[in-house]
Amino acid sequence: MSTQVPEQVEEESSADAEQQSAAQQSRMEKKRQNAAARESQEQAEAEEKASSEEDTYLLKVFRYDPEVAGKQEPRFDDFHVPYHKGMTVLDALMYARDHYDSSLTFRHSCRQAICGSDAMFVNGRQRLSCKTQLSDLEEPVRVEPLPHQEVVKDLVVDMEHFYDQMEAVEPYFQTNDLPEGEQLQSRENREKIKMSTRCIWCGACMSSCNIAAGDNQYLGPAAINKAYRFTMDEREGEEMKQHRLEILEQEHGVWRCQTQFSCTEVCPKDIPLTEHIQELKREAVKNNLKFW
Ligand code: SF4
Ligand code: FES
Repeated sequence: MSTQVPEQVEEESSADAEQQSAAQQSRMEKKRQNAAARESQEQAEAEEKASSEEDTYLLKVFRYDPEVAGKQEPRFDDFHVPYHKGMTVLDALMYARDHYDSSLTFRHSCRQAICGSDAMFVNGRQRLSCKTQLSDLEEPVRVEPLPHQEVVKDLVVDMEHFYDQMEAVEPYFQTNDLPEGEQLQSRENREKIKMSTRCIWCGACMSSCNIAAGDNQYLGPAAINKAYRFTMDEREGEEMKQHRLEILEQEHGVWRCQTQFSCTEVCPKDIPLTEHIQELKREAVKNNLKFW
């Protein structure tokens, strides 16, 4: 049986009602705030979309076609390409080719920094066009073929010499020491050659190298890196290592490198090319030390 007097009951129920009303108001206020936040976010997104749809990038693209009269004189063509977030230089070139000039010529394939076919000279530096964001570049974006290579057409260069240099270092596994069973490689040795295996044959390093530009016979950073990959592979054995060092020690081999680091700076796969070349120089010296 309740012992409360009627006045007490009345006071408590009015306090409950006040509490409920305050809680309801706070819920309403929260809802209003959420709705306002949603609205302003939607507005910001709409503005961003509208502004990105309006944005364009100006590309100045090198043009040259030795087979068409009137296009044999090298020139730059301007293309205003509509920008969207995440657009790469390759995307922009494809847009220009598909919408403005179907004769614009350049190589590409994987579009994800794997095939190495779209190395170009963009704003004064060798880069993979599929890996280069437009938003990271200053406008106008100047796109040229790789320097120090013969231009075939527009942005396409002749890679024959580059492939010849790669071939000269015998870029494949060879050994005279085949074991009976499975041929294992130690974890440490795999770690040592790991970076050198990442080369995608894009030619950016060779194009950036002043020495290669002045000495057509210089093996060049990519080929020497490829040689490093096999010279340092413990599974090839000592005899093959000797053979590889003989190739690298020749007049136009490792000693031509003047440690300018330009190859290392432009390599899209972050291979420490200069370091590898220096290590091979040390191996070559050790190889020639004679103790009588
Ligand atoms: S070493 Fe680097 S820059 Fe040179 S060809 Fe290979 S991936 Fe390209
Ligand atoms: S398209 Fe293959 S590396 Fe760029």
